[in-house]
Amino acid sequence: MKDIKIALVGSGMIGGGLAVNALMNDYPTIIYDVIDLNKVRATIQNVVQIMVDAGAISEEKGKEVLANARYTNDLEEAVRDADFVQECVPERIELKRSVYRQIQEIRGADVIIASSTSATMPSVLQEDALYPETILVGHPYNPSYLLPLIEVCGGTKTSEENTQKAMEIYKGMGKVPVHCKKEVPGFIVNRLSWSAMDIAKENVMNGVCSVEDMDKAIMYGPGMRMAVTGQILTLSLGVQGGLRAVAAKYGKEPSESDLVCADGVDEEIANRPEKWGNTVEGVEKFRDKMFAEILKAQGLL
Ligand SMILES: NC(=O)c1ccc[n+]([C@@H]2O[C@H](COP(=O)([O-])OP(=O)(O)OC[C@H]3O[C@@H](n4cnc5c(N)ncnc54)[C@H](O)[C@@H]3O)[C@@H](O)[C@H]2O)c1
Repeated sequence: MKDIKIALVGSGMIGGGLAVNALMNDYPTIIYDVIDLNKVRATIQNVVQIMVDAGAISEEKGKEVLANARYTNDLEEAVRDADFVQECVPERIELKRSVYRQIQEIRGADVIIASSTSATMPSVLQEDALYPETILVGHPYNPSYLLPLIEVCGGTKTSEENTQKAMEIYKGMGKVPVHCKKEVPGFIVNRLSWSAMDIAKENVMNGVCSVEDMDKAIMYGPGMRMAVTGQILTLSLGVQGGLRAVAAKYGKEPSESDLVCADGVDEEIANRPEKWGNTVEGVEKFRDKMFAEILKAQGLL
């Protein structure tokens, strides 16, 4: 078992998934909710079964997760030893703030509180808190038990140390944390999803394509690429010479954003583990292998 102790506060769709991730990765984990604990147990059992059925964990690991899970209706018991609380209560600001107040009355500043909120900025959550420096957002993506993304966003009063600690704890949970450095609605990636949804609806409503063809166009084109190389690296791979060369292709000078993104892509490629490719050629080779794997899994190859 790891040293860091985790408490899940709220065990619905998101809390249940993240609790299973913490348990799978050997964090001592306690799950708190205000509802009947048999219901909470059933949620966790259900998530474990989904993970086993999906082939994400073995049956044996599933049994281990269930054996190690602890449950309580007592908030004090949940947080008195915790180093890290993942708050997953409904999206009501006053409810979230009152939960933080209760936790901080018990634990002072000794516990990081990460909110799963999709909609509330961390500076708003930490208003009137006893120890605002310990409160931040750790926004997961549904289904939280399988999708690795966590967007970590601190408020104006969150300490940098706590933000970095949270990122490390999430890595230990098998998640992929990204740092959202500014408090913007939708954090990093829902902004992109919302824009994509707006255009998708526009295409459908203007008769450009059916709903089904809109979805196929994403799934078998940009969606597949982005699963392997994201938004910016994908576009960079589209032109020999990367983003510095795109403008020249159209007889223009590269823009400031082309140059900033090109430098970022160089850094991103260099940071990739060797097996994912950490040169342009290596990334392309890995990408093609992944495409073949995805297509085989879908029965299309
Ligand atoms: N559902 C999503 O797709 C999604 C994605 C990312 C983030 N989020 C965010 O995660 C948070 C939780 O969402 P959800 O979809 O899991 O909600 P949910 O309704 O499925 O679960 C909420 C849980 O909190 C419990 N709860 C209510 N009051 C409580 C209290 N005072 N103390 C402890 N537990 C309490 C409820 O009994 C329930 O089990 C929200 O802030 C939401 O915005 C949701």
